[in-house]
Amino acid sequence: MKHLLKLSDWTGEEIIATLDLADKLKAEQKQGIPHPALKGKSIALVFSKASTRTRCSFDVGVYQLGAHSVTLSSAESQIGRGEPIEDTARVLGRYFDGIMIRTYKQSDVEELAKYSGVPVINGLTDDAHPCQVLADLQTIREYKGKLAGLKMAYIGDGNNMANSLIAGALLTGMQISVACPVGYQPAPAVLEYAAKFSGFTLTDDPKTAAAGADVLITDVWASMGQEQEAEARKKAFAGYQINNDLLALANPGCMVQHCLPAHRGEEIAADVLEAHANEIFDEAENRLHAQKAVMVKLMG
Ligand code: CP
Ligand code: NVA
Repeated sequence: MKHLLKLSDWTGEEIIATLDLADKLKAEQKQGIPHPALKGKSIALVFSKASTRTRCSFDVGVYQLGAHSVTLSSAESQIGRGEPIEDTARVLGRYFDGIMIRTYKQSDVEELAKYSGVPVINGLTDDAHPCQVLADLQTIREYKGKLAGLKMAYIGDGNNMANSLIAGALLTGMQISVACPVGYQPAPAVLEYAAKFSGFTLTDDPKTAAAGADVLITDVWASMGQEQEAEARKKAFAGYQINNDLLALANPGCMVQHCLPAHRGEEIAADVLEAHANEIFDEAENRLHAQKAVMVKLMG
């Protein structure tokens, strides 16, 4: 594994080994044991979209690994003025030992990987959010003690989170049921990939997906870049909320996960978010540990 562009590029074994390292780094950090595995290295953190968790967890993670980060927003760099990705890639590749990028098009991330000559980590595109899903899997394993054999139900938009959860869940032996309104299903290529696994089901009925679930998970109805569709999406997604009625159909002790930021009263009821706040904020914390593991695996 050279890059983390999307989870389906990795094997289940590579994902599990990364989660094992994430657990180890987390335990060391909690005990105050330093682990400067990337001492002397530098990573560029490139953002063309807003971020709180990704930006902070990468920056702090880089520091804890003894490395140095430079954060570039597209608005404040030549990227926002139209410098081609292949040129930016060849420049950054000469300064940095790795690049994390959050942007719109998956093809831009692939191009960065092709031209930079250094490991590239996808910090979210319109198609994928692999770092988030590694943190989700780490959290589920912490709470449930395993991944294989558990059932995850994703309720909502067939977006970047859905795409990455499908790959992450199936590669680690989980079952995943995805409930999306017609017209908002995951990308055809992702459905084609998922169809190769026996553990995948797609429905437009949240209740069918949630039945017998061990983990209920959702994401916003309008992602970054879809702000102008927000009102239409609110109508299309009515009924696709994780609330206590839906949770009642899941297995006892069902976890709730949300990548955040959350819209209470839309994709998740406020009382459900608060009742499951420990799991959800552990999930946010695990971005730090999971991404440190990714950086060590790719840049160490
Ligand atoms: N979940 C997530 O990626 O959060 P940010 O957009 O704040 O980075
Ligand atoms: N699907 C959301 C995830 C945010 C972390 C988005 O792309 O905006």
